[in-house]
Amino acid sequence: MAARVSVLGLGAMGGALAAAFVSAGHPTTVWNRTPGRAGELVGKGAEEAPSAAAAAAASPLVVVCLATYDAVREVLHPLGGELAGRTLVNLTSGSPPSARETAAWAEEHGVGYLDGVVMTTPPGIGTPDVLQLYGGPRAAFDAHRGTLAALGEPVHLGDDAALSSVYDMALLGLMWSALTGWLHGAVLIGADGPGGGVTATAFTEVARRWMRTVGTFMTTYAPQIDAGSYPAEGFPLDLHLMTMNFLSHASELRGVSSALPDLLTALTSRAVEEGHGEDSYARLVEFLRVRDKD
Ligand SMILES: NC(=O)c1ccc[n+]([C@@H]2O[C@H](COP(=O)([O-])OP(=O)(O)OC[C@H]3O[C@@H](n4cnc5c(N)ncnc54)[C@H](OP(=O)(O)O)[C@@H]3O)[C@@H](O)[C@H]2O)c1
Repeated sequence: MAARVSVLGLGAMGGALAAAFVSAGHPTTVWNRTPGRAGELVGKGAEEAPSAAAAAAASPLVVVCLATYDAVREVLHPLGGELAGRTLVNLTSGSPPSARETAAWAEEHGVGYLDGVVMTTPPGIGTPDVLQLYGGPRAAFDAHRGTLAALGEPVHLGDDAALSSVYDMALLGLMWSALTGWLHGAVLIGADGPGGGVTATAFTEVARRWMRTVGTFMTTYAPQIDAGSYPAEGFPLDLHLMTMNFLSHASELRGVSSALPDLLTALTSRAVEEGHGEDSYARLVEFLRVRDKD
């Protein structure tokens, strides 16, 4: 039989989480500060609790998703007794110190604690391959993995509750960098050719395949970063820099912003000027570790 779960907070995200548990067949108890948001969920089979305390007491697994950690503190701190012996999963976005502080509070009150991030928007909740990242004790994760799988693909990052928010920031940074590179490519390629150029849709078909190759570069470079040694294996920074200059030039020729290639060129030029032209692209990590003094 599917495990019982409670969801505190029925905003856009909390409502989607509760709906996914209900759809997966979990008996689901819900609560929201402002009444009147549970109607649709109750229609699908959820039970609405009259208070946060009643919702917390209803299930071994309690999922909280509120606007901020301040709201989480306000709601949870009076509930230490109800939550003792249960597992609390906090899917509210926050900072690493907030995650550690909540983990310490949970430990003090005998509450199992996982701090998580939802790597999608509400419509993506319940899609099997959407990542859900969790930091906190492995045993708590293993005990509830099956239930959490209703939301997406649960991934345990490690025992430190702060890991989920650290990963969240790093992965969003990766997303913004990749999306901006893709947008620049779409503009550049769209400006090319006599009849206007290639559509973003046509470009994206090829770009998505290229991202698979970019993924293999990351797999090659990651151990280099960990080892602090950057053999070029046929693609040295000198060559990257030459090609980046072409990209800046091509952008200027087409009247397209060269801000992105200029940024990349500036970073790579510094590494080459300091004598690392024969190293791999991963050498640039050394130039990102220290904040520029300007
Ligand atoms: N939406 C997204 O795409 C998305 C994606 C990833 C992560 N997240 C994260 O998920 C969390 C929730 O986002 P959301 O989109 O669901 O926000 P939302 O629609 O604005 O809902 C906010 C929720 O927090 C509750 N709340 C706020 N202050 C409270 C307080 N002092 N006491 C009790 N409840 C309080 C609200 O209750 P009331 O109804 O009573 O106001 C509501 O249930 C945020 O941390 C957000 O960063 C959201």
